[in-house]
Amino acid sequence: MTPFLRKIASWVFSLLLFLQGGQMLHVNSEKTVNDAFLPGAVWTDTEGNPIQAHGGQVQRMTVPDGSGGVTETYVWVGENKNSGHMGNPVAVYTSDDLYHWTCRGDVLRPVSSVSEIDTDPYFENLYGELDETQKQHVVDCIGTDKVIERPKMLYNEKNGNYVIWFHSDDVTGSNPNYPYDVGMAGLAVSDSPFGPFRFVDRYRLNECPSNQIDCFPFSKGEARDMNLFLDDDGTAYIVYTSENNKTLYISRLNEDFTGLSGTVYGEDYIRLFPGAMREAPVLIRQDDRYYLMSSSTTGWASNQARVWSSDRIFGKWRNDGNPCEGKGRTVTFDTQSTTLFRAPNGQWIYGGDRWNGDVLSDSRYVWLPVTFENGKLTIRWENEWNWETGDHRS
Ligand code: GAL
Repeated sequence: MTPFLRKIASWVFSLLLFLQGGQMLHVNSEKTVNDAFLPGAVWTDTEGNPIQAHGGQVQRMTVPDGSGGVTETYVWVGENKNSGHMGNPVAVYTSDDLYHWTCRGDVLRPVSSVSEIDTDPYFENLYGELDETQKQHVVDCIGTDKVIERPKMLYNEKNGNYVIWFHSDDVTGSNPNYPYDVGMAGLAVSDSPFGPFRFVDRYRLNECPSNQIDCFPFSKGEARDMNLFLDDDGTAYIVYTSENNKTLYISRLNEDFTGLSGTVYGEDYIRLFPGAMREAPVLIRQDDRYYLMSSSTTGWASNQARVWSSDRIFGKWRNDGNPCEGKGRTVTFDTQSTTLFRAPNGQWIYGGDRWNGDVLSDSRYVWLPVTFENGKLTIRWENEWNWETGDHRS
């Protein structure tokens, strides 16, 4: 293509993006990703490599300070998609200012074979004591050809441990072409957020009670897209899509955050919005209200977000509708929800994935300011912005 034609093509592309509702191109900014949020731009870490923490979660967390004590910093955990669709290691980054992110490496690594466990000291240290069947199970669950998605981490103050829960999936004999047929929640633990995390197992979670209508009775207790939420009283919850992605569930975790607290409906878990087909859930608390944001189910393509809110996790949830305002609102500014968190000044921030299904490692991050207006979570587009100067009405 000649330079002239390339220029025309670039204008047409920009115009199309603008018309389809997103002011989603970052144009002629003096700023860089290290001094402002530039939604949709390539975001590099302190080594200059594009950040690989997709489907992730950002939170302020207690971490080792490197000299035997602890400190607090922001931790960003997510999928390292340099391996493509399958076998994504779970990567961790840290930052004090939310602009500069230091890569702490892959903290949960997929395992290619039993012989890798036997020969690589990294894996031998984690799984060497298991018997052959157990080692094979680790490979079957977190092999380099398995789905390892939407990892989330929690620090357990009571025992000093860190847990990662993630969407663990694979094909099955009855559905050999669909890598999301197993539908389970994977668990890994470590005594450091920087790993190494040891894969424990994967599980089906709570099931639809027999006196309610199960939207997918053929496969009980499924768990796919998920998130974790730590309440102010130290209780942790896992929120996930179940019943073939038709119904969201929130289940309370046990004291160690390594399993469910129980199976009593309304006390240990709740089913939400049966048949609504929501995924990519994010649960937060602002003052005394809980907000649950989610996307619809269209794979890597963006769709319209929705928020429900409630005074109690196991209470009645109110449909607050689409939280996004302005151009691009019908497709969540071309993103899918993955995290909501607060900057040091209290400013809430929405973090979404702008997936690139063709080159997953080039999927981008879109962080936008969140306000709470008349009790409703609201997200507006910004071409570039700073949390220090954001409008943090909340
Ligand atoms: C999305 C989901 C992603 C990934 C993708 C695969 O709906 O949120 O985590 O699983 O589908 O198509």
